[in-house]
Amino acid sequence: MNCIGIIGAMEQEVSRLKEMMEDVRITSRASMDFYEGILKGKKVVVVRSGVGKVNAGMCAQILADVFQVEAIINTGIAGGLNNDINIGDIVLSTDVLHHDMNAVGFGYPKGQIPQMDVFSFQADAALRDAAAKACQEVNPEIQVFEGRIASGDQFICEQKVKDEITNEFGAFAVEMEGAAIGQAAWLNHVPFLIIRAISDKADGSAHMDYSAFEAAAIEHSVKLTARMIENL
Ligand code: ADE
Repeated sequence: MNCIGIIGAMEQEVSRLKEMMEDVRITSRASMDFYEGILKGKKVVVVRSGVGKVNAGMCAQILADVFQVEAIINTGIAGGLNNDINIGDIVLSTDVLHHDMNAVGFGYPKGQIPQMDVFSFQADAALRDAAAKACQEVNPEIQVFEGRIASGDQFICEQKVKDEITNEFGAFAVEMEGAAIGQAAWLNHVPFLIIRAISDKADGSAHMDYSAFEAAAIEHSVKLTARMIENL
């Protein structure tokens, strides 16, 4: 691999990775600081995109245009949708979609972007295998799931909304950036993977759990990402 882009939405999700880097050069674009350098012996660009789909999509586009990355990895946290998934477990994306895309009135199924060829954006299977292996190595105590991740510009913290997203899309996790990164990567023919540690269950307890478990979940996701880069 030549250069790998690593996106985290929030500073807490990338600060540790930035600290591990050597030979760092910082380039600013669209109010985002891109940290170019070496992580575990590999060329990477680590960046905090900011929260939400517009920030994330722009960030992925800059990684493709300016840094010509060969792959994009998104590390962070998410709400769990599947009852078997515990807080702290990892979900690796099989595919991603926008749960808040709704052109039903035009005859499209919920989630489908009008006039695009695909319903969801497929993540790269080789990156997913590498992430699953890295997770076994560094986080053997937790479960790793492979499944769909649904994204929207909403923090999901109501059982009713959680149920709608789960039943409509069969998603394993919900967050606020993955589908935008996947879409931008797909449009640029760049392989991608979304790696999310579960910080809450996206229901009425989400706010409380999120504050309590955010740091531990981020640690799982960061450890996995660093080992995966080392192994690539
Ligand atoms: N990120 C972490 N938890 C989330 C939730 N419940 N909804 C959306 N994004 C999240």
